[in-house]
Amino acid sequence: MTETDFILKDFSIENINNGSFTWKTPSNIALVKYWGKQEPQIPENASISFTLDACFTLTTLEYSLKQTRHAELVSASHENNLNFEIYFEGEKKEDFKPKIATFFKRIEQYVPFLKEFEFVIKSQNSFPHSSGIASSASGMGALALCVMSLEKAINPVMTNEYFNKKASFLARLGSGSACRSIEGPLIVWGNHPEIEGSSDLFGVKFPHKIHDNFKNYQDTILLVDEGEKQVSSTVGHQLMYDHPFAKQRFQQANENILNISKVLQTGDLSAFIAIVESEALSLHAMMMTSNPYFILMKPNTLKIINEIWEFRAQTNANICFTLDAGANVHVLFPENEKETVNNFIKSNLIQFCQENHYICDIIGEGTTSIVNL
Ligand code: PMV
Repeated sequence: MTETDFILKDFSIENINNGSFTWKTPSNIALVKYWGKQEPQIPENASISFTLDACFTLTTLEYSLKQTRHAELVSASHENNLNFEIYFEGEKKEDFKPKIATFFKRIEQYVPFLKEFEFVIKSQNSFPHSSGIASSASGMGALALCVMSLEKAINPVMTNEYFNKKASFLARLGSGSACRSIEGPLIVWGNHPEIEGSSDLFGVKFPHKIHDNFKNYQDTILLVDEGEKQVSSTVGHQLMYDHPFAKQRFQQANENILNISKVLQTGDLSAFIAIVESEALSLHAMMMTSNPYFILMKPNTLKIINEIWEFRAQTNANICFTLDAGANVHVLFPENEKETVNNFIKSNLIQFCQENHYICDIIGEGTTSIVNL
């Protein structure tokens, strides 16, 4: 599919006045990381992620047809502005507006009905706002789905497959990794010769049978450093433009997609651990070797990593870590090792979390509509 397949043409909003849609959309954690992109939000390499479950955003989009449209009281230029208000956890958030306005601008050509409406967006996260967990994937995913529900109300003739693809396509234009939050449990984003159907434009479900070892895989997120990210992902992606190791990194990631694809089918947990940890450290290595350079780990991040390695060496547990572009640690392990690993996490790792904060999550199936489509 190409970009033009996502443009809604010849629509009528005759019977649409006002209403609302609500979507609950999870976050995701990349196993093979996306870091580096081209305009418009085209990834430099393919990435793959586990969709999460407990970490989600719940967003309601209230829409009403612009009264001015009927009364024809305002100038055409005013009518083209997108009018919206945004509330986050009950509070009006002016500072969230520029990001949403940019998103609406980027998607407008694909959903041209937007400018006919006024919107109120009401959003909340299941995880603490200042936890250092990026909410852009779940947030942009949920908003894209609400927009798609409005498109479906306008144009009901649409398959579920198209609905999800276009939701992922729109979400990508808000935040790249958001395109991997629409479905689950494993989503690939970025064109890759070995992943059938994969695309730079939207995320697709991992196309092969996933080994039972990965069923209900656990992700305990250790909140080492709560607060705003030190480096926004926008800045981080830009650092890859003239990064001395960019080419090798993109090649390494694409090779890791091929390797992890095999591992996910065979259930080889040792190979899984090796790929996932190397990917996390490679992402951080990119930031340590960029200009300007950053260290996004904290001393406690390293203490946790060393504890995990020691525990793994002693017990042969299939526990490993991955990292986002920050200091928090995602601890990944199979469901059948839950008891021993959770005991270890409680006794050895929680002490390194800010105010002992951590979140027990599990891989999930993707988004859910709370109100009718
Ligand atoms: O979607 P963005 O622009 O916030 O970038 C996300 C980048 C990482 O989370 C670091 C890696 C990834 O693939 O999710």
